[in-house]
Amino acid sequence: MEQTQIKKRILFLATIAIAFFCSGYAQLPLYLDDNQPIEERVKNALNRMTLEEKVKLCIAQSKFSSHGVPRLGIPELWMSDGPHGVREEIEWNTWKRAQWTNDSCTAFPALTCLAATWSPEMSAIYGKAIGEEARYREKDVLLGPGVNIYRTPLNGRNFEYIGEDPYLASVLVVPYIQELQKNGVAACVKHFALNNQELWRGHIDVHLSDRALHEIYLPAFKAAAQQGGSWTIMGAYNKVRGEHACHNDLLLNKILKEEWGFDGAVITDWGGAHDTDEAVFNGLDIEMGTYTDGLARESEFTYDDYYLAAPYLKGLKEGKYPISTLDDKASRILRLIFRTAMNRHKPCGSFASEEHFEVARKISEDGIVLLKNSSVSTKQPALLPLQGEKYERILVVGENATRAQTQGGGSSELKVKREVSPLEGLKARYGDKINYAQGYKAGRPHYGRVEEIPQEITDSLRADAVEKAKDAEVVIFVGGLNKNHQQDAEAGDRITYDLPFGQNELIRELLAVNKNVIVVLVSGNAVAMPWVQEVPAILQAWYSGSEAGNALANIISGDVTPSGKLPFSFPVKLTDNGAHTFDYMSYPGDSIRQEYKEDILVGYRWHDTKKIPALFPFGHGLSYTSFAYSQITADKKQLNSPEDKIKVSVTVTNTGPVKGKEVVQLYIGDERSSFARPLKELKRLP
Ligand code: BGC
Repeated sequence: MEQTQIKKRILFLATIAIAFFCSGYAQLPLYLDDNQPIEERVKNALNRMTLEEKVKLCIAQSKFSSHGVPRLGIPELWMSDGPHGVREEIEWNTWKRAQWTNDSCTAFPALTCLAATWSPEMSAIYGKAIGEEARYREKDVLLGPGVNIYRTPLNGRNFEYIGEDPYLASVLVVPYIQELQKNGVAACVKHFALNNQELWRGHIDVHLSDRALHEIYLPAFKAAAQQGGSWTIMGAYNKVRGEHACHNDLLLNKILKEEWGFDGAVITDWGGAHDTDEAVFNGLDIEMGTYTDGLARESEFTYDDYYLAAPYLKGLKEGKYPISTLDDKASRILRLIFRTAMNRHKPCGSFASEEHFEVARKISEDGIVLLKNSSVSTKQPALLPLQGEKYERILVVGENATRAQTQGGGSSELKVKREVSPLEGLKARYGDKINYAQGYKAGRPHYGRVEEIPQEITDSLRADAVEKAKDAEVVIFVGGLNKNHQQDAEAGDRITYDLPFGQNELIRELLAVNKNVIVVLVSGNAVAMPWVQEVPAILQAWYSGSEAGNALANIISGDVTPSGKLPFSFPVKLTDNGAHTFDYMSYPGDSIRQEYKEDILVGYRWHDTKKIPALFPFGHGLSYTSFAYSQITADKKQLNSPEDKIKVSVTVTNTGPVKGKEVVQLYIGDERSSFARPLKELKRLP
């Protein structure tokens, strides 16, 4: 072939290739091209959508999914509870279990346990693992984590939150969100805001000072939105200053979206929307669960009747609502869809794997708090750790030693592939040295009601446990609360600060026949401990998920040295807690309105400032080893402006017999402040 002919042929082929290449790209709409900036894609998709399509984006299509845009290939959003594992599948439009056989998950420890680790690294591995589970299950939004501040030990949902301190909750929520979202699954931080009690949660109107709002109740949400970059947030059921939190101008428009620059979507709590005008104007983006109160009611109300469905469309067509309100909502939802459901670069995830059980165990071990450890007589060492070779007859007492704690509690309930109970964990560690007595009976979880246990059953269980305790060398009592209604569960607060089901009496009777009693409390809340002086060893073991029993056995045996610290204060009695010092308007309110009268003095801020010693204070947690703090230095004597920084350093040395971990906690107080301040506040972890 002549050279000119060759050149012509090359030119011809190149022209065809370029034309083919360009035509391919020209056909790909910009919104589908993930090489384009996300904001361009959002605008492009929005321009192609009809009014009806945009409105549909804003509402649920089933209990746990919202609409996509089928005509444009934009997928639906699939959501799941959260926050301790990926909830089992339920039916399309009922709360009934779907009975799938492939949705048994890993149960991670409840967030109070994570909080007790005081460890951002633990939070990161938690977020990563739960994100992988959610991704595997093809979820786009995980409904969690929760960062409502622990205000009262009666709140039925404290176990799902990260404690009483805004700094601790902020530091821990961020890595959870960041690692979760690396899986292309959005966090949905909840419940924004001031859902600090379950009693009357659907309508109680919370009033508080600006300082309490901004210093105590909002910082963890702010950290979640800004540092964590959470892609969604869930509104709370309650009202705040007269408006429902799910469509609240102050919280959602002014603070979240304007002040904090949140570019994600606001999702209602299930059934949290109440009014079309407010939902349109006051910052709500996605309406879920209307006319379903969590797990309770169903109705004939259809998805088309949702406040942001037909009534919104009608108002838009009549010019009552500006299109800009809709474009803003739809843009936020499209952004969310691009980040999650349409994210083609997300990993594949993994589910109920040994690696995830390992994560659950580690967090659980790091979160268990040794509240007390003393010896029964001066000649003996502290009761814990319990060295197997020293004991032949160990009696385990208590229903919580065998009860599945992933059941009950409300929306955080899980169907699990594995849950090692305390009794199983202890048997695996101590073998047939372990004997068991149930001791008391609580009944199964029942939504909204309490099961009565006949007195004869209570009496005979107690007598059996006390009889067996006489013969044991040591008794491990595993009790606490249990996620039944009013015992750490959604939609109801506890009614007293005391341990339920006659446990206090049982502990006293056990002590009367055997001094070597170890009390293990399984709960997400503080409880009164009238026997605290007589019981030599007390552990706070939380709801610890799949590996609860193994983690507990590792701590009791000393294979792992306890290092957990309390993320909230345990008052001696209920009225020692700030919220309960005042009249009923402070807690629980008059059923319509409530005033946070303790103001900024929540938790330890109250105990310290008012000089009311706690039974066990915030930050408390013992070890099997000891630590010496030395060379404590600060590079400045005082701070002169809010931007000013001080560098503080300390040398911590393990001076005890075994290896262990210590959490260094830096608190700051301002002795010369001209206005009221807490005595001290947690400001840094290393
Ligand atoms: C709870 C939420 C939960 C939702 C969906 C509500 O009752 O308050 O935390 O995510 O139900 O199950």
